[in-house]
Amino acid sequence: MEQLQLDKMLEEKGYIDEPVDPKLKLVEEITRLKKEKNAVILSHFYVEGELQDIADFVGDSLGLAQKAASTDADIIVFVGVHFMAETAKIINPSKKVILPDLKAGCSLAESAPADKFAAFKAKYSDHKVVTYINATAALKTMSDLVCTSANAKTIVDSFPKGQKLIFGPDKNLGNYINSITGREMVLWDGACMVHEQYSVEKIIDLIEEHPDAEFIAHPECEKPVLLLAKYIGSTTALLNYVQKSSAKKFIVATESGILHQMVKACPDKVFIPAPSVDSTCGCNDCSYMKLNSLQKLYVCLKHEQPEISLPEDVIEKAKLPIQRMLEISK
Ligand code: 13P
Ligand code: SF4
Repeated sequence: MEQLQLDKMLEEKGYIDEPVDPKLKLVEEITRLKKEKNAVILSHFYVEGELQDIADFVGDSLGLAQKAASTDADIIVFVGVHFMAETAKIINPSKKVILPDLKAGCSLAESAPADKFAAFKAKYSDHKVVTYINATAALKTMSDLVCTSANAKTIVDSFPKGQKLIFGPDKNLGNYINSITGREMVLWDGACMVHEQYSVEKIIDLIEEHPDAEFIAHPECEKPVLLLAKYIGSTTALLNYVQKSSAKKFIVATESGILHQMVKACPDKVFIPAPSVDSTCGCNDCSYMKLNSLQKLYVCLKHEQPEISLPEDVIEKAKLPIQRMLEISK
């Protein structure tokens, strides 16, 4: 594609490639714009530390969805990835929802294209559908209930024992929930590129090297990794765990951004990121989450772009399973 065409396409999609004066005090400017525009900044634990520190609320997917639903701000700035901003728009459609970089996608959400998922669902007509929140709005329109990693067990348990279920798009979380509930949910074959890259062998070596450390993991990790874990939970649950535990050292298998909050909450404890198969890849970082930057946040807030928009019928249909989830999780 020619540069002119590419620029036009990006402009239509709300990209503003604006050079920012390097002398500008970005944190001050963002804080000023936020007040001026009555905006709220919601950041996920996986974005850079400085983007967590500037947020009005930093949390896991469930906490962020709850905040997005209850905010009285006019603008929600979602410093996370696309499906999170989309969820905020679905549950609070009268708000303007903006995302610093529209290219901040998610490998899990992308692993389940709507047409393929619809065909998969059609094969199991007597099954209800539980969809992990890391999915597109289109998938949510086909769901009976949405869940996050924090409430997946509660959501699945809310169905009668005999109810057959489909779970998607994360097979690892689905497998884990099957193992702790005794269910046999049919799983969509999707996974998170960050949580699938851990090396079991290297983790075992590291545990041996640090016998005083506790190994903790996010349920998006593969089964062999989860089997080694002393504790498994969502990012918020992991953060709470390290504060409560008497251990002084932890090996952490989830995206590296969470370490920022762990170190802040427990400055006297040691946190070691779990090793990946390729030690040079930096795969502990979610490349989508890391597309966010202070500079992009500033430009996004200044122009109130790129904005998330969805057809009304999609919002109406996708809202029901998310609202039910929020009700059950109160
Ligand atoms: P939680 O926010 O539910 O811990 O999930 C992590 C994640 O992968 C978000 O993309
Ligand atoms: Fe998606 Fe994985 Fe990144 Fe979370 S960490 S946004 S699941 S790719």
